[in-house]
Amino acid sequence: MSISRLASSINESPTLAMNEKARLLRTKGDPVIHLGGGEPKNKAPITAVLASAAKLRSGDIKYAPTDGLPSLKKAIIRYTEEHYGRLASADNVIVSTGAKQSIYNLLFSLVNPQDEVIILAPYWVSYPEMIKMVYGIPVVVTPEDGTFQPRMEEIEEAVSSYTKIIIINSPNNPSGVMYPEEFIADIVDYCERKGIYLIFDDIYHRLIFDGRQPISPYRFTDSDIENTRVIVVNGISKLYGLTGFRIGWTIANRKLVEVMTIIQSQVTSCPSVVSQAAADGALSGMQSVVENLRLTIQNNRDVMLQELRSFSDVNVTKPSGTFYCLPDFRATAAIH
Ligand SMILES: Cc1ncc(COP(=O)(O)O)c(C=O)c1O
Repeated sequence: MSISRLASSINESPTLAMNEKARLLRTKGDPVIHLGGGEPKNKAPITAVLASAAKLRSGDIKYAPTDGLPSLKKAIIRYTEEHYGRLASADNVIVSTGAKQSIYNLLFSLVNPQDEVIILAPYWVSYPEMIKMVYGIPVVVTPEDGTFQPRMEEIEEAVSSYTKIIIINSPNNPSGVMYPEEFIADIVDYCERKGIYLIFDDIYHRLIFDGRQPISPYRFTDSDIENTRVIVVNGISKLYGLTGFRIGWTIANRKLVEVMTIIQSQVTSCPSVVSQAAADGALSGMQSVVENLRLTIQNNRDVMLQELRSFSDVNVTKPSGTFYCLPDFRATAAIH
């Protein structure tokens, strides 16, 4: 078989591969504790279930506008105003089939061949592959001090005339680290000055611990949505534990949203109307579900830390959000 060069260069998502491996081992009857998957174990919020069931019962399951149902866009605009303190219009919002597609559409719309996209280690494993899929070059900035906290100087050193985008994911998959407010302020200011797009992959933004508050990147720029380089990506997968409905969205200037809409129209036509109804139900329903999930994963974090710290050779950075933890087992491996 003759596979394209591009397709041959793309690696499988390691998390999805791990999910599959765990599933196969379980079917064989092996006792597997699977810690690989990036999804909470909660039941779907009832308002999401009822809204999607009502949509199904209506029998009206057709194509929707490519950029999302107006009712869901309204809910996203309300969400953005409440949680980011920024007024968006319907033209600034595009709903996609998961935040993963939002990010892919963004990269497809912005990156020219050989443009560089900066990602901060440790990073979500899909970023480099998605960047390669649009013929861009992933440039990884790894904190030299061994922490999971990138420093502005290191990022500035990695920036070249080809740098088109920097992607920020805080709190972070896979470290659970939330970047400090000063860092967010600095990077927003830097990107606005340099004209570099700053994609905020904010998929975990309210899943944070120990009294921390979510940080809206818009606070650090005077430019409105039409003029800022800040782009926000979010979705229902993590906050509401609705990974299976596959709904994410992007907040960006209207020109970019227009281009992303064209791309999306040629790839998936539109996100499923049943899933969009569920997303609307989740965003418009009781928000205590997010707080309950947050408390559960904070508690899980505490149990995980306690267990990991009982090993003397394991180095752990305390996660300040998400359901991830990235312990360093290298010292143990050296001993055994
Ligand atoms: C950092 C990050 N961004 C985006 C996504 C994709 O989310 P979605 O399920 O909405 O496609 C994930 C999922 O694991 C993630 O960890």
